[in-house]
Amino acid sequence: MTRKITANIYMTIDGRGAFPKYPGYDIPTGSRDEPDEFFRSMWTDRYDDVTTVIMGRRSFVGHRKTHSEKNRKPTDPKFMFEYSRFLDRVDKVCLSHRLKNPNWENSRVMKGDLATIVHKLKREKGGNIIAEGGPRLSFEFIRRDLADDYWFLVMPVIYGQGPRYWWPLKEQRNLKLLSSSHMPYGELVLHYESNRE
Ligand SMILES: NC(=O)c1ccc[n+]([C@@H]2O[C@H](COP(=O)([O-])OP(=O)(O)OC[C@H]3O[C@@H](n4cnc5c(N)ncnc54)[C@H](OP(=O)(O)O)[C@@H]3O)[C@@H](O)[C@H]2O)c1
Repeated sequence: MTRKITANIYMTIDGRGAFPKYPGYDIPTGSRDEPDEFFRSMWTDRYDDVTTVIMGRRSFVGHRKTHSEKNRKPTDPKFMFEYSRFLDRVDKVCLSHRLKNPNWENSRVMKGDLATIVHKLKREKGGNIIAEGGPRLSFEFIRRDLADDYWFLVMPVIYGQGPRYWWPLKEQRNLKLLSSSHMPYGELVLHYESNRE
């Protein structure tokens, strides 16, 4: 079975890779210890079939600081501890020219042409792969048509600041909608696959 690569994209309506505050953003949608639909579809439901997570250096360092289990706050919800345990155990690829020691268990640093890295990872044994940003890396996946599918979380904010997801493209990209849903506080969850027809 070929390893599927999914890009996770979290953005404001104006395509900024930021996590602004908006009405309801901090209100859990289920019980405090239950992940919402968005988190389930992007993460919890996929713990069994995803074995590799790719991140750009900035996102990797940010995730290590916030999401490794040892850095969790005791007040964090139970499902975030589960997410941390998943991230700790999964094979993590940090893309970087400058980082030498990833300093996080089950991690390695790779560098070079992204298509070559993707093909190398796809040839390795393992389950599916998630590309978890940041925005520059996600855009590179889209620009070069390297992901098989995309999960978008669109936050109900026009933010006007923060890292951009979108830059000019020489060639348009067509996507096929697989599912769409909205969350109680106005977020959209969109699942598309690459349309290579
Ligand atoms: N899921 C997320 O992580 C996420 C989502 C939304 C927003 N954000 C926000 O976005 C910001 C970070 O995103 P970003 O787009 O600026 O950075 P990023 O994609 O996380 O990291 C960019 C770095 O990745 C390395 N890199 C990328 N491609 C490479 C390649 N092919 N070979 C070697 N190195 C490669 C380079 O590191 P070197 O300089 O070391 O070479 C580059 O400077 C943060 O503020 C974060 O809060 C993150």
